Amino acid sequence: MARKKNDEDAGDGRLIEGAALEQERDFELSLRPQWLREYIGQSKVKENLGIFVKAARARGEALDHLLLNGPPGLGKTSLASIVAREMGAQMRMTAGPVIEKAGDLAAILTNLSEGDVLFIDEIHRLHPAIEEILYPAMEDFELDLVIGQGPAARSVKLDLPRFTLIGATTRAGLISAPLRGRFGINFHLDFYPVDDLQAIVVRSAAILGVEVDDPGARAIAERARGTPRIANRLLRRVRDFAEVEHEGRISAAVANDALNRMEVDRYGLDEVDRRMLITIIEKFGGGPVGVATISAAIQEEKEAIEEIYEPYLIQIGFLNRTPRGRMATPAAYLHLGLDYRAPGNQRDLF
Ligand SMILES: Nc1ncnc2c1ncn2[C@@H]1O[C@H](COP(=O)(O)OP(=O)(O)OP(=O)(O)O)[C@@H](O)[C@H]1O
Ligand SMILES: [Mg+2]
Repeated sequence: MARKKNDEDAGDGRLIEGAALEQERDFELSLRPQWLREYIGQSKVKENLGIFVKAARARGEALDHLLLNGPPGLGKTSLASIVAREMGAQMRMTAGPVIEKAGDLAAILTNLSEGDVLFIDEIHRLHPAIEEILYPAMEDFELDLVIGQGPAARSVKLDLPRFTLIGATTRAGLISAPLRGRFGINFHLDFYPVDDLQAIVVRSAAILGVEVDDPGARAIAERARGTPRIANRLLRRVRDFAEVEHEGRISAAVANDALNRMEVDRYGLDEVDRRMLITIIEKFGGGPVGVATISAAIQEEKEAIEEIYEPYLIQIGFLNRTPRGRMATPAAYLHLGLDYRAPGNQRDLF
């Protein structure tokens, strides 16, 4: 799937165009949990966060800086706005790639009020020179500014209000150690188990006024790639089928039929996942093969492979990451209906 310039990314690499994208955004917003108690699953994160929020509130202080990492669509942005709401704080949102100049960040920081939450999405994409401005801001609530140029340049320090920085990233490995070290709280979000996704589908269906029974919700949850955003999206698509053909009611049979027709398989793999696995197996003897090579072979961006496709395939045991590259596992062969041959031993079988 080659990317066209005018297409936008729905956040998990699945392309959606123009008006549809807008609709998807509204839809996501309407389903976003508002409070910690509405946030389903991730119980460890939720429990700890609940305690930190309570303690900070009791002391009348801003919450410690918080880093959220995990694959797309698992609820990082949702959690950030929940934290702001639970803290009774105002949230300002920006994103790493949007902040182009030091002055952009300085303007954002100097406009904060005491206790505000500053949310920086995709924080791994901050320019290093801009990242450095964050260090004293996070640590000492100070802004070091250089005014003027050349020999006349001088630096001034400005005091900043005590704020909470919440950073979100899909690529924790790309965050520099000095930045990471300045976050007092660091949470990793994992793919959701089917039970939690089922609860999310039930909740979303209630908000949307869709009739779905438990087996129907479970069928959708099972194919949602461990990802709430995908669960919600599949629910919406299945609803279309249900409305047109089954008077709007979603049972397991209706959901499974709709999902099969959308070519979402039993593990929630879509066309790109399958193409990637088949390419590794058929063109590269099952691997090991480097991501750059896979990227060229299937015409998907390397970043999308690393951020979106690969983490889930690794999680369900279809792919291994080795120092020499990616390898398809016997389970992947089995799922795709291909004969497994130990890599490197292909010839021995003939
Ligand atoms: N724990 C949860 N409980 C209920 N719904 C959730 C939960 N987590 C995520 N969602 C739903 O999934 C959607 C996507 O979540 P969100 O936008 O917070 O993900 P994200 O991690 O920020 O993704 P990205 O990395 O693409 O920015 C939300 O609109 C929300 O409806
Ligand atoms: Mg987000």
